[in-house]
Amino acid sequence: MTIAPVPPLGEILVEEDRLRERVVALGREISVDYAESELLLVGVLKGAMLFLSDLMREITSPCEVDFMAVASYGSATDSSGVVRILKDLDVPIEGRDVLIVEDIVDSGLTLQYLLRNLGARGPRTLEVCALLTKPERRKADVAIRYTGFEIRDCFVIGYGLDHRERWRNLPYVAELAAE
Ligand code: IMP
Ligand code: MG
Repeated sequence: MTIAPVPPLGEILVEEDRLRERVVALGREISVDYAESELLLVGVLKGAMLFLSDLMREITSPCEVDFMAVASYGSATDSSGVVRILKDLDVPIEGRDVLIVEDIVDSGLTLQYLLRNLGARGPRTLEVCALLTKPERRKADVAIRYTGFEIRDCFVIGYGLDHRERWRNLPYVAELAAE
């Protein structure tokens, strides 16, 4: 059951059951694609935490998980592309099959930085799985192998995504209404 939106929630863009269905489908696809390898999932904190934990449970091929935390300088709703690593991976990734798990690709600048940074460490393969993407906002051309949902240009909260650290606990993805 979904609770009726209250301010500052706007329109619900992705309901809980659609999230669940899509995550199951992505998990199946990833399990097939990586059936022969030992996948390393790299969750990008904090936004990807709910997506990653649900996705992992749907992956049936062998996998490990590690985390990175990055901060992008900019305003609450716009990233600048200048990224700082707050927490790095615990393990080297040379020769490994790495899948970056992101909450949302907006300008693509954060992801572009991550791809360059992790790519320089010599992984065997490096791909991206993003729950959400806003193609209209793209500034950097980044290849996303697995996408959950394409959404229009608006600021969203819930299912891990925040606005000033709030609303990550919503079980669905909603638009942030104007304050
Ligand atoms: P980018 O560098 O512009 O692609 O933005 C990357 C990061 O900004 C994402 O990983 C999110 O943490 C955050 N972000 C971008 N758009 C949204 C949004 O609509 N809601 C919440 N966080 C967002
Ligand atoms: Mg993020």
